[in-house]
Amino acid sequence: MPHKRHIQFRRPDGGLYAEELFSTKGFESVYSLIYHLRPPTATLDVRPWERPPIRFSPNDPLRNRHFKTPQVARDGEDAIESRAPLLGNDDVVLSIANAQRPMEYFYRNTGGDELLFIHSGAGILESQFGELAYRPHDYLVIPTGTTYRIVPASPTRMLVHEMTGTITLPRKYRNEFGQLEEHAPYYERDFRAPMLKPPVEAQGEYEVRVTSGGRHAIYVVQNHPCDVVGWDGYCYPYAFNLEEFAPITGKLHQPPPAHATFEAPGAAFCAFVPRMFDYHPLAIPVPYNHSSVDCDEVLYYVSGNFMSRRGVEEGSITLHSSGAPHGPQPGAVESSLGKTSTDEIAVMVDTFKPLLLAEAAIACEDPSYFRSWIEAPTA
Ligand SMILES: [Fe+2]
Repeated sequence: MPHKRHIQFRRPDGGLYAEELFSTKGFESVYSLIYHLRPPTATLDVRPWERPPIRFSPNDPLRNRHFKTPQVARDGEDAIESRAPLLGNDDVVLSIANAQRPMEYFYRNTGGDELLFIHSGAGILESQFGELAYRPHDYLVIPTGTTYRIVPASPTRMLVHEMTGTITLPRKYRNEFGQLEEHAPYYERDFRAPMLKPPVEAQGEYEVRVTSGGRHAIYVVQNHPCDVVGWDGYCYPYAFNLEEFAPITGKLHQPPPAHATFEAPGAAFCAFVPRMFDYHPLAIPVPYNHSSVDCDEVLYYVSGNFMSRRGVEEGSITLHSSGAPHGPQPGAVESSLGKTSTDEIAVMVDTFKPLLLAEAAIACEDPSYFRSWIEAPTA
């Protein structure tokens, strides 16, 4: 790294390294400075990238729904091609993906940040910032504009959130300087940054598939995107594993905001991880009935015994719709009494605008879910 930004910085052969400002919200929000062997601007060709538009339909009739996403399988594909959109609105598109093989190209989403939740599998997220190894139960936060590819070491099932805004840590966890406060359920040390590798010194034809709010293109660039010799700054991909999440528990039931992980415009993220239950002698461990009147709740079930939900399995998604009451299924309250801990893992995203249903969601829906709260008639 040169000792000062924006000055001459020379390669051993006498040429100049190419400095790139990687900035967000124009020049006004978080940014990094990246030093390439050669300019990232050398574009040989731009071709159309034919991506079928996502066909959404409203949640009509408006009801609670259950999607068995393991039935959505696209075998033999990479982390981008295997994305099957399920739910979405103006703020987020939520997909399931099963990456079976490495991406043979780079991908760049300039329409917003991406949040990948790794359900199973391990591998590497490779970007101009270096290599970020991932493992089960990692969240990968990828800033908009990052040029990346996913190289699975084992088949990787992930939940993908493509946002139109910026993903941040909740404001309530941060002090006036942005540092995580003592009461937050995680600490800076719990977040992993990419490790920069030696620069790839190669020229040729490298494919970068670019997407931005419904516009797409395939760029063929001359210089390898990972020809970076150094970078610094505040904008880069990072990982957070749910194992590091220190859940806040209480004397009585803690609502989802106590389990918040991230937030983004129009969406709030939470994680439910193995934890001790409430310690009031008469506490009810499962949630009370509630009706989230102004948001849609999406819960993705990862592993464990989902005590308050009937019929859900690993990889299930429930959509509890704005205005439709939900709560523990019959018998769940009684059977939860006296339990002291849970081993469940589930992740949630609440959206403030109504979610639309994509074709793949409709195809894997359990249509009887909205009736799952009916008590069996007593003899
Ligand atoms: Fe709920």
